[in-house]
Amino acid sequence: MCGIVGYIGNKQAGPILLEGLHKLEYRGYDSAGIAVYDDKTGKTEIVKAKGRLKSLMDKTNDGKALIGTCGIGHTRWATHGEPSETNAHPHCSDDGVVIAVHNGIIENYAELKAKLLKKGYSFYSQTDTEVATKLIRYYYEKYNNDPIVALERFIFRTRGSYAIAVMFKDYPDEIYATRKDSPMIIGVSDGATYLASDVPAILKYTRNVYYIGDREIARLVAGGVEFFNVDKELIEKSSVEIKWDAEAAEKGGYEHFMMKEICEQPKVVADTVNSAVSKGRVDFTETGLTDDVLKKFEQIYIVGCGSAYHVGAVALYVIEKLAKMPTRVELASEFRYRTPLINEKTLVIVISQSGETADSLAALRESKEMGATTLAIVNVVGSSIARDADHVFYTKAGPEISVATTKAYSSQLIACYLIAIKLALIRGVIDKTREDQLIGELISLPDKIKSILEDENGVQQFATTVATKSDVFFIGRGIDYAVCLEGSLKLKEISYIHSEAYAAGELKHGTISLIEEGTLVAGVLTQDELFEKTVSNLVETKSRGAIILGITVKGKFGIEATSDFTVYIPETDPLFYASLVVIPLQLLAYYVSASKGLDVDKPRNLAKSVTVE
Ligand code: AGP
Repeated sequence: MCGIVGYIGNKQAGPILLEGLHKLEYRGYDSAGIAVYDDKTGKTEIVKAKGRLKSLMDKTNDGKALIGTCGIGHTRWATHGEPSETNAHPHCSDDGVVIAVHNGIIENYAELKAKLLKKGYSFYSQTDTEVATKLIRYYYEKYNNDPIVALERFIFRTRGSYAIAVMFKDYPDEIYATRKDSPMIIGVSDGATYLASDVPAILKYTRNVYYIGDREIARLVAGGVEFFNVDKELIEKSSVEIKWDAEAAEKGGYEHFMMKEICEQPKVVADTVNSAVSKGRVDFTETGLTDDVLKKFEQIYIVGCGSAYHVGAVALYVIEKLAKMPTRVELASEFRYRTPLINEKTLVIVISQSGETADSLAALRESKEMGATTLAIVNVVGSSIARDADHVFYTKAGPEISVATTKAYSSQLIACYLIAIKLALIRGVIDKTREDQLIGELISLPDKIKSILEDENGVQQFATTVATKSDVFFIGRGIDYAVCLEGSLKLKEISYIHSEAYAAGELKHGTISLIEEGTLVAGVLTQDELFEKTVSNLVETKSRGAIILGITVKGKFGIEATSDFTVYIPETDPLFYASLVVIPLQLLAYYVSASKGLDVDKPRNLAKSVTVE
């Protein structure tokens, strides 16, 4: 949520900061700003603009209007205070001594603001970041103008999550940073030092990055960085190599990242399968989950938010069916406020693309405290969830930039299938022959996904009909229902059309009253034993005027008599249909959004990773 960049070196900072912000714009895009220190005048200039980064680029001549080799920048997703130039970061103490950009939420900002008001401070914005900036200013003055002590006091005094980058007037050749539960990385290359909240911003300069730990403080100078713990002691850190290549985070000729990422799915699915299958067998060596460890579990909780939760919804059916293991799927934001009955015989699987989602991270930590073993299915190497989990399965999706997830969802499904197969084997529910069969199916999924992508014209045409609708319902049973959840979210988040996913059998318990002449109902039908039942539910909506989109298996089920438009997918093992059905659903959402002329990659009010509660 929000993007932070920082640069200190021997080049002009403005253009580098804006380029970095451009790479991070998917993290927040309602306003942006930069601050650059000019060593000729001894002043730091701050420029901010409301709206997309383009406004700031125009205002600063792509950053060239600011002179200086040290600066920080921010692209915002508003939490406290509406999107406006005043509320945009960087924020500044009234005397210009402290300038800061911040991601996250300072939960006790009201109390801190009241304290600062009593001390004579005043406030120009509605943000918690201005409070944070002035709190640092207050401690800086109180503790002999020492930036490390000021930040250490800030860490002790604040609650919530933050990644904060700070420039102090008296230390013009340095940038300071600290974080808690919000990501921040540092790269050093060719006499320069880069700071960012996310990898794509600095991939162009270096693949070796340092992760600042929770409540650690970093002091950046040109070509170097030092880290301190909360006791202000110097600490040693090694850099971590990021394996993503810089081009993977570019559009590569596609109009939108989303379409590029949809088309990358055959590859990322293959890469994820290959990462955990060796010599024809599921191999979890990399996760550190041995058979002995897996044997001790009696139940599974799967936790995630948004699409990651939807992956869990599919996994619930697959694990129950295949491994015959009691499994539950939970929204991370709810999980942490309930009393989940977990213990040391529970495996908690936390699914997250970014590895930074605040609710998922909190659920993971709580599970550990309750004695459960945690497995993270994460895409971003070195992210907070990956670092805190007992075991990590890294999906091989590569950088995902579009706010609407596609390839990460698909690679997370694969991770869950592999876990289900492994558990089924260990529990003696399936034998080697069935394992061979299932792995064979997984290996064939990329080609099947490719064939759906090659045959997308029909979906593209049908999207123009969907674009005229104001309500869409997705219905299915079992795994088909679970994938409907994702199809519905995809459509609503990027096309702004109201949509709902319903378990087909549940429609007549209330929701069917919403069906009227012309309402679009998309039915997913891939499961033998459920096919006829879902057809009946579709017929019930059709007789009330609904237009029916049917998604089903080629050559297996005939639904043409019921559906007005049919999309076919190739046959696979019934457990894995979500991986194929989701492709036309993603394409549909994409083409509806594109045909409405919307910003596909950056839908309104959203941000790629949600690092606040
Ligand atoms: C889906 O398209 C969304 N971008 C969103 O629901 C997302 O899946 C959710 O915020 C979880 O993010 P994470 O995987 O990074 O934890």
